[in-house]
Amino acid sequence: MALRDAGAKHNILMGAAVANHLLSNATAKTVLAREYSSLTAENVMKFGQIHPERNTYSWGPADALVAFAQANDQKVHGHTLLWHTEMPSWANASDLEPHIRTIVGRYKGKIHSWDVVNEVMGDDGKLRNVWYRDLVAKAFRVAHEVDPNAILYINDYNIEDGRPKSDAMYNYVKGLLAEGVPIHGVGFQCHFHTGWTPSSALLTQMKRFAALGLRVSITEFDCAIKDGGNTTTQATQYSNMMKAALAVGDKFDKFTTWGFTDASTWLPGQNPLPFTADYKPKPAYNAMIEALEGKPGTPPTTGVRSVQAQQEAVNALGYTPKLAVDGDFGPLTEAGVMWLQEKVGVTADGVWGPVTEAAYKAYKEPTPPASSGPVTAAKLRAMATGGTKVSNGSYNEGSTGPVSVMQKNSALHWTSGMSIDCDGQPGSLCNKTTDPYFQPNTSYNQSDGKPLNAETLPFIVVPLASSIWNAGNSGVKGGMLCTIVYKEKYVHAVVGDQGPTDRIGEASYAAAKALGIPASPTSGGVGSGVTYIVYTDTIVKPIESAAEAHRLGEIKAAAWLGVTTVPDTYTVKSGDTITKISAATNVGINAIGKFNSMITIGQSLNVTAPETNPDPTTPVITTYVAQTGDTWSSIAQKAGITVDQLLTLNNLKVAVGSSYIVKKELPTLPTDVYADGLPQVDSETPSAKALQTELKRVGYLDVSVELADNYGPRTQSAVAAFHNDNPQFRTTMYDPQIRSMGWAFLKGMSTGTGKVTAVENTAGRIPDSAVLFTSTSSQTGRAFAEETIRSALTLMGLPVTDAWINGYLTMALRESSYNPNAVNTYDSNAIGAIVSDGYPFQCSRGMWQCIPQTFARYHQAGTSLSIYDPVASCAASINYVRNVYGVANDGSNLASKVQQADPDRPSKGY
Ligand code: XIL
Repeated sequence: MALRDAGAKHNILMGAAVANHLLSNATAKTVLAREYSSLTAENVMKFGQIHPERNTYSWGPADALVAFAQANDQKVHGHTLLWHTEMPSWANASDLEPHIRTIVGRYKGKIHSWDVVNEVMGDDGKLRNVWYRDLVAKAFRVAHEVDPNAILYINDYNIEDGRPKSDAMYNYVKGLLAEGVPIHGVGFQCHFHTGWTPSSALLTQMKRFAALGLRVSITEFDCAIKDGGNTTTQATQYSNMMKAALAVGDKFDKFTTWGFTDASTWLPGQNPLPFTADYKPKPAYNAMIEALEGKPGTPPTTGVRSVQAQQEAVNALGYTPKLAVDGDFGPLTEAGVMWLQEKVGVTADGVWGPVTEAAYKAYKEPTPPASSGPVTAAKLRAMATGGTKVSNGSYNEGSTGPVSVMQKNSALHWTSGMSIDCDGQPGSLCNKTTDPYFQPNTSYNQSDGKPLNAETLPFIVVPLASSIWNAGNSGVKGGMLCTIVYKEKYVHAVVGDQGPTDRIGEASYAAAKALGIPASPTSGGVGSGVTYIVYTDTIVKPIESAAEAHRLGEIKAAAWLGVTTVPDTYTVKSGDTITKISAATNVGINAIGKFNSMITIGQSLNVTAPETNPDPTTPVITTYVAQTGDTWSSIAQKAGITVDQLLTLNNLKVAVGSSYIVKKELPTLPTDVYADGLPQVDSETPSAKALQTELKRVGYLDVSVELADNYGPRTQSAVAAFHNDNPQFRTTMYDPQIRSMGWAFLKGMSTGTGKVTAVENTAGRIPDSAVLFTSTSSQTGRAFAEETIRSALTLMGLPVTDAWINGYLTMALRESSYNPNAVNTYDSNAIGAIVSDGYPFQCSRGMWQCIPQTFARYHQAGTSLSIYDPVASCAASINYVRNVYGVANDGSNLASKVQQADPDRPSKGY
């Protein structure tokens, strides 16, 4: 039992601080990977080290540590954002916030917890210096805003037994909590020695903090051998510490030692750590295991797998030339282990830790998903019957008989036999020798351009188009998610290859293996009893990720079976859009939107909302001349009938996309609106339900109208009314679509005050094609932002007020950290052709983030045409908020109209 496993039984992470030089020592890496579930950077994340100059960050060492931890399934504890002893001389108070934003932002989602501040108090219990006196609350707030999932600690020493410091710290933390500061835990450093380990005072103090609802960690324990102590007395101290930790209860979350091997400690010569300088476990190590296990420990003395067994495993996967099985871990063995790691799909670092072990086992014996959850093979098989036949004919499948492709809800299915496909990247199992028909390619390729690997990736082969069936016509695409079911097993797979026109029922070696079907390409396969389900609305990305197929498959299969168990939360990944989240979670866009006002990477979103039923088909008005602002209920009211009656009377069936005739003269389209010839960006247009929700919000659509998945006549009539008020968003004389700019405008419309009409910015408006993407300033920072706001207001003839300045500073901080050259390359706007700055056209840019279309539209006469120009960015943004939100001349209502400008409310898009 390794430390990490023993700790896991108590929900305690077992951590070690790591000096980066150890990451190039194979033995150190092996021990770290095997024993620890959490790593702390001993030095490389400290302010002066990671951020040596104002505009220079040194990411390499910290990145290396994070990568090592990720490869070995370890959490990272970030140490530390603010510590007085390691401040670079260039830094002053205003540098803290950008520092925290940048660092926490970079490692968002990758760092489990942060020591936000370290050693804020002297032994006298007084805050040590101006940084700590003024900036602690802010440091926590900023860190929390940037990474709301990171657990934030205050870390200190002498707070266990050091009166007055221990009381002072307790009262200080209580005060921070009372102010609503997002502080989640208290770290006790615990640099002790054999003559002094105050574990009982420590326990009392830890419990006191736990009672405040805070997490408690031991963050830097070491026990120097001093005063006649030896490794046995040291072991007793380790044991006492661990017992104290366990006695705290479930608020105790992490036990970290400051290093792990006596070969590398900040207390040289004092051997304070649990492993010897040559990485052998000391009595201190056994003492920890024993305390955790409640019985004597039997620590492993080698890796998860002995060196001999590693060598055997490498050989077994076909490594040539074979390694000598001698138990000696030299460079040849390391190269072999790295080869194996690449093959089983984990980071090739030469260290055989638990992750490699698990991947190796999975590679050798792919484990089918447990059938105990809501999705079972039997349920899937029962569901995969009947539906609508989508193939023209049937495949003549020997022992199974004729096989047709059927559609049921959002999935296609068929049941046949399985033949084995070994095509793709050659390996030890699939190659020209094992398979006489071997082809070194697949119809669909991995994200790196290589063919798929049939040995490792479960995929299915669909027949090439023929008169029997054209899979493409049924929406089948490469990478599409599928589930294959056989007997009591199922495996989620992807559409990976195409095969003969007259056969159906083929899948990769890995798929067969997972299902317990003989997988040999020459003699394997099975004649019947295999059910294939293809979910035509879901593509697995990247195609080669069996893990992603599995994750999505569990969700989609459950949804298809109607036993939907959508996870309570979804963690947003880089590159996510609401559409992708909706597909991944099978929860409608509208429901997600309703429960989450804003989405940032790493945030947890609630996706448990139930869906509203689709609206039934409804008829259209023919005899009433619609007025601006009419809704079905207003018409029904005027006519003195119910909405239902009105709809029944107007017996017109309307299909999706049919047009609705408004008998009203419409103004002609202004010619300049789309004169620049840029295509409309349809990805910015909303789902029908999202549109209906907004139309209701601003009063174009009656609130009683049920949300529907299509543009029914009522939605169309509401869009028409919106277009009548705002004709610049209409692209054709009668345009039933909202389109991207209209949608942006609609979303920006004020609530409560009813409909607003756009005030056109005629003086400064430029065509989208006139926007330039050249940087005009390299200055950054708050003072510069303030100067910019003043210039913009003056140039625009607006009063320079605190309301404008404070609001615009808040926005600039939130949108660009005061950097005029900021580009957002990850949100849903980041699309379009690459332009001169190297980024997609539609990325939002600038100190006040703006997409080019909005910048063009609200461009201020007399300012630069570059979207990066700070004054132009500020002025365009001011025009935008004034037009769209009705912000007053003096900005007095800015913070109330635009949440993003209000420092007292969370950041929010607008
Ligand atoms: C120490 C490191 O171990 C040394 O390598 C470095 O030279 C100085 O800092 N309390 C802390 C740690 O919070 O950051 C310190 O780490 C040890 C004391």
